[in-house]
Amino acid sequence: MPPGVQQLSHPLAAHHLTILRDKETPSTVFRLQVQRLSMLLAVSATADLRLRPHHVHTPLVPFEGQTLDARVAIVPILRAGLSMVEPVLQLLPEAEVRHLGMYRDEATAQPVEYYRKLPEGRAPDVALILDPMLATGGSIRMAVAALKRWGVPDVRVLSLIAAPEGIALLHAEAPEVRLYVAGIDQCLNEHKFIVPGLGDAGDRIFNTAPGEEI
Ligand code: PRP
Repeated sequence: MPPGVQQLSHPLAAHHLTILRDKETPSTVFRLQVQRLSMLLAVSATADLRLRPHHVHTPLVPFEGQTLDARVAIVPILRAGLSMVEPVLQLLPEAEVRHLGMYRDEATAQPVEYYRKLPEGRAPDVALILDPMLATGGSIRMAVAALKRWGVPDVRVLSLIAAPEGIALLHAEAPEVRLYVAGIDQCLNEHKFIVPGLGDAGDRIFNTAPGEEI
C-alpha cells in the first residue's frame, strides 16, 4: 500500500463494515452503519490537526487548554457522501461544508460533475473529502483537482471502502493526499464495481436500489 493510505484497525470498524456489506442490511440500518464508520474515519483523519493554546476558566480555576488551529472544510461528493456529513460534523462542529456533485457514467465509468460550489477567496487549511466508495478513483481525482485549484494545501479523503485500482490512481496523481479507509477490497469487476464491495452505496443509503439487483 502507498504510504499515505491508512486503514482502520479498530475492531469496531471490521464489525460495522461487515454489517454494511451484508445484502440483507436494510437502508435504515445501512445509514447508521455509514455514520458509525464515518465517525471512526473522522477520528483517524483528524489525529494530527494543529492546536493552539486556549485559555478558559473552569468553575474552579483558570485553565490553559487548547483549541483547534486549523480551518477545516468537509466536502461530501453527492449523493452518497452526504450520508457521511453529520457524523463528521459531530466531531468538527465548526467545520464548513462545501458540496461537489458527481455521478459515474454507467457506460464509461467516468465521473460527470453536475455541481460545484467553492467560493472565491480564502481556501480552508484542510479539506476532508467524503465519499463512501473509491472504485476507479475518477471521482476522487476530479474532487482533489477542484480543491487544489481552490487552493487547499492539505486535502484528505475519507472512504468506507476502496479498490486497489482507485488507490493506485490517487497515489499516482496526488501522492501527498492522504486516504483514510475502513476496508481495502480485492478488485473491480468488469462493470468497475468494487468486489467484494457493498453494492451501490448511494442506492442503499437513499433506498433507490431495484431490490435483488443490489
Ligand atoms: C459512486 C460513489 C463514488 C463513485 C466511485 O457514486 O459514491 O462517487 O461512484 O466511483 P469511481 O471511483 O470509479 O469514480 P455514483 O456514481 O453511484 O453516484 P451516487 O453517489 O449519486 O449514487
